[in-house]
Amino acid sequence: MRLCRVMSVVVLVLVVAAGAAYGQTAQAPKRTPDVIYVPTPPEVVAAMLKVAKVGPNDVVYDLGCGDGRIVISAVKDFGAKAGVGIDIDPQRIAEARENAKTSGVTDKVKILEADLFETDISQATVVTLYLLPSLNIKLQPKLMAELKPGTRIVSHAFDMGDWAPEQELDVDGRKVYFWTIPKK
Ligand SMILES: C[S@@+](CC[C@H](N)C(=O)[O-])C[C@H]1O[C@@H](n2cnc3c(N)ncnc32)[C@H](O)[C@@H]1O
Repeated sequence: MRLCRVMSVVVLVLVVAAGAAYGQTAQAPKRTPDVIYVPTPPEVVAAMLKVAKVGPNDVVYDLGCGDGRIVISAVKDFGAKAGVGIDIDPQRIAEARENAKTSGVTDKVKILEADLFETDISQATVVTLYLLPSLNIKLQPKLMAELKPGTRIVSHAFDMGDWAPEQELDVDGRKVYFWTIPKK
């Protein structure tokens, strides 16, 4: 009888511990991200923001923002008016928000946990990407439909199929592609 009671307590403790562990790992994305997290190196971030001529009138959106480095740098180093980072992975969102805080840019940088394909990006004047060739192609109709003519788009590593870039850079062996949304 006593053994039975001890076993019940052990089971209860295990159930509670498992619940707590689940609570900690419940920070999983709502759906599988379309691409894994790989950060853009700082020198490539700088080249992307430079080729897009980011300045005080710009609102920079990074679609799949990872740890927020591109939008943080846009505001901090290039004086952008605002930065908006969108990521589907709560772990990245937590990192990006923490990085924005330590960089002292929370007044200008917004980090949104969302699916980039389902988020309104119409306020962007510059859009940055580091996704995949297939995702860039899937994204192109959304970019064309939502972004104002003159909005600049910069992609690390991947082009956009048939849409020829206006500029193509090589930064320490990494490709950077640049486009402008044409007049409608
Ligand atoms: C290759 S990383 C690029 C990170 C950052 N832009 C950079 O250049 O350092 C791609 C990011 O896209 C995010 N991602 C993947 N699919 C997404 C989706 N559908 N919506 C929003 N973010 C997504 C991933 O979680 C990951 O952080």
